[in-house]
Amino acid sequence: KKTIDDQNYCGKKVLVRCDFNVPMKDGVITNENRINAALPTIQKLVNDGAKVILCSHLGKPKNGPEAKFSLAPVAVALSAKLGKTVVFADDDNVVGENAKAAVAAMNNGDVVLLQNTRFRKEETKNLPEFSQDLASLADAYVDDAFGSCHRAHCSTAGVTDYIKDTAVGYLMEKEIKYLGNAVNDPVRPFTAILGGAKVADKLNVISNLLEKVDTLIIGGGMAYTFIKAQGYEVGKSLCDDSKLDYCKEMMAKAQEKGVKLLLPVDTACVENFPDPIDAPVETTVVPVTAIPADMEGCDIGPETMKLFADAVKASKTVVWNGPMGVFENPTLAAGTLAVAKAMAESDATTVIGGGDSAAAVQQMGLGDKMTHISTGGGASLEYLEGKELPGIAVIQNA
Ligand code: 3PG
Repeated sequence: KKTIDDQNYCGKKVLVRCDFNVPMKDGVITNENRINAALPTIQKLVNDGAKVILCSHLGKPKNGPEAKFSLAPVAVALSAKLGKTVVFADDDNVVGENAKAAVAAMNNGDVVLLQNTRFRKEETKNLPEFSQDLASLADAYVDDAFGSCHRAHCSTAGVTDYIKDTAVGYLMEKEIKYLGNAVNDPVRPFTAILGGAKVADKLNVISNLLEKVDTLIIGGGMAYTFIKAQGYEVGKSLCDDSKLDYCKEMMAKAQEKGVKLLLPVDTACVENFPDPIDAPVETTVVPVTAIPADMEGCDIGPETMKLFADAVKASKTVVWNGPMGVFENPTLAAGTLAVAKAMAESDATTVIGGGDSAAAVQQMGLGDKMTHISTGGGASLEYLEGKELPGIAVIQNA
């Protein structure tokens, strides 16, 4: 695949697909990681003297343009970070009069941000009309939206039918390097840690990782279905009875592949799930063989923390996706913190697969201690599933 280092973009109009789908509260951006992660590519293009036209989606607007999904706040944040004005082309149809005029007025090194690509209903259907509109603005296309590469949309895929000069940006390159090397060419021993609420969300991830890892650790809400599949009662804990056979199959697969499968041996239980989620709770630690019928496991227990931390210590590559417990609650965050700490202290290559675990690591101030934190939530999961991702495939096949 081509990268942006393969050419100088001086004077070219370059459409850059970023993932500026940042969390917002009352019109204020609450986490700027994805904006920061996009800066190296934008800066390189500015330095080359390109005319840089940025685009992204934000949220899931269902009924067309809506003020709360406007990318205007991102233009403000970007201007501050780049130290230059990012012109916001505020067209409800994204490629409208404002965008065309802004692009026509660009000098080399200028930056324009288009309105939310999902304001056009063609975007998520990958229909040619919008792909052509986007392509009509630019001479070249740079794909730097790793977080959206699992979507075959106009701005992530369709547009490349109409612009032949395509390349991946630095963020995309970095994500593929760290996630790709970790999964496909890991320094061993290779351990993957999976957590999160539902087994159903991770079916293909578990199965694919069992082909690759030396050790697979399963914690979080999804572990209780495995615990029940081992023959124990799980009380009021999250459990998907329809996936018990699947869990048994995966335990057999682990054995067959010689993969060490580590499940919780103890759990921190509560009588009632905290409401609100960060309300004070009292926990009782019990072995997983003795979860009381009226209690709900909400975090891994201390024995399990040690078991998992020891496995991390013995590894040379560790990939983690999904919290170990209800980490939004300080009392139930201990397991997630223990795993984050073990990874932070290890010399292994440590990769955090986006979403909740990335948020947890950053919340705990351990972000700097990891080799790589992915900007993709759904995208990094699908990457771990071993799926072909449309946003990457279009550039690779170009
Ligand atoms: C994400 O936040 O995972 C990406 O930006 C993709 O967003 P989407 O799930 O709305 O397509």
